[in-house]
Amino acid sequence: MDAAKVAQKAWARTPLWKRAELLHKAAAILKEHKAPIAECLVKEIAKPAKDAVSEVVRSGDLVSYTAEEGVRILGEGKLLVSDSFPGNERNKYCLSSKVPLGVVLAIPPFNYPVNLAVSKIGPALIAGNALVLKPPTQGAVAALHMVHCFHLAGFPKGLISCVTGKGSEIGDFLTMHPGVNCISFTGGDTGIAISKKAGMVPLQMELGGKDACIVLEDADLDLVTANIVKGGFSYSGQRCTAVKVVLIMESIADAVVEKVKAKLAKLKVGSPEDDSDITPVVTESSANFIEALVMDAKEKGATFCQEYRREGNLIWPLLLDHVRPDMRIAWEEPFGPVLPVIRINSVEEGIHHCNASNFGLQGCVFTKDINKAIMISDAMETGTVQINSAPARGPDHFPFQGLKDSGIGSQGITNSINMMTKIINDEYSMTKYQANLLWLGLERLVRCESVNRQDGDGDADADPRFVVVARLLGQHYPSNAPPATADRTEVIDD
Ligand code: G3H
Repeated sequence: MDAAKVAQKAWARTPLWKRAELLHKAAAILKEHKAPIAECLVKEIAKPAKDAVSEVVRSGDLVSYTAEEGVRILGEGKLLVSDSFPGNERNKYCLSSKVPLGVVLAIPPFNYPVNLAVSKIGPALIAGNALVLKPPTQGAVAALHMVHCFHLAGFPKGLISCVTGKGSEIGDFLTMHPGVNCISFTGGDTGIAISKKAGMVPLQMELGGKDACIVLEDADLDLVTANIVKGGFSYSGQRCTAVKVVLIMESIADAVVEKVKAKLAKLKVGSPEDDSDITPVVTESSANFIEALVMDAKEKGATFCQEYRREGNLIWPLLLDHVRPDMRIAWEEPFGPVLPVIRINSVEEGIHHCNASNFGLQGCVFTKDINKAIMISDAMETGTVQINSAPARGPDHFPFQGLKDSGIGSQGITNSINMMTKIINDEYSMTKYQANLLWLGLERLVRCESVNRQDGDGDADADPRFVVVARLLGQHYPSNAPPATADRTEVIDD
């Protein structure tokens, strides 16, 4: 933490273009190292081999985009003038700009140890912050390798640290450390505990979801089927944005359940090295938790579309039909390859179930009627509703946020950069007399400069410094200052 504090002071003074240059370099190095990092993901978190490579490449792209976006949005400030507010003359100016927060603590989850780490690291660094990363216990080796890529890119010593260890052992120390100025966390309900302990620091949190998939009678059933399988079962359902409950109109339920069953039967179940679709879930306790939800549904009468099968942490894909609200699986997120189907008789019933959840991350609606889709998506209390496609974060520059217990704040590259800065103001008050003098003096200077700097092509080439000041005053000069002249306008428009 001490090293981060020292490094951050110098980093905040490093020009924005230089910070961006280093991020671009890190992105390129990360992509060069995609094979060994992906191998770690396969071994540590059983991510299917192809998805593991995609995660690293996506992360490199995210870092590059962050560098570009940072250069754009952090290079801008905002000028305000006082007379917009009643009772004020036009004699006070406020120049507000964004400055870094200090040290950002980033805590990504096991399911994206690289991608959800760089989605915090990139914005923090471009904004001039130092970064302390606490990687997930499973995924820590991949994360260390990824951090090494940033070090290879040449970021200053102490600016990016990675502290490994169990959350239960080092979590409180880090999240309650007085040197931390911002926490960006993705994970489960630990985030709620962190938010209670963290104190007066900005928080960005994404804490999971129970994403509902509402299917109307007029939906394209093949499209629905493909999205239920992809949305519910990719990476064995271990995604916060996975489809976690299907709310389907009774009249089409049989047909869709049959189609989903047929597709699930074709999924490859096995090891991540073989690029299987369904791989072992991350821990034994996870597998036990999933099993408890399945057994609860069994006791309460859910229809099993497949036989329940588990070997160690490997659980075969399971669709549970005729799930009712009194079953735990109707509300809790299994984070595994088990998907409940609740049959509904009206759209309102579906919306009601979605909104009765403590979570509100994403949801989706399938219908060919765009008007209905928009009305339903407006009524669903979630951070995002996907129309005719499965929930998903990204592309990574899209805003990403959850309502209720699903999180605090919004992510996505631009929002994360903004979130990791604070606004400071320079305010300047003038008397009208001073303002008039200043204005008249500057107008003369601009005119003089334009005359002195004729370059022979007939155009006036004013000194850019005067043009900028004159432009500000031209747009905002005090109400009793002289109006703009045609000459001045020409120079200003140059
Ligand atoms: O697990 C949580 C992630 O934010 C989900 O990301 O939609 O790209 O899988 P994804």
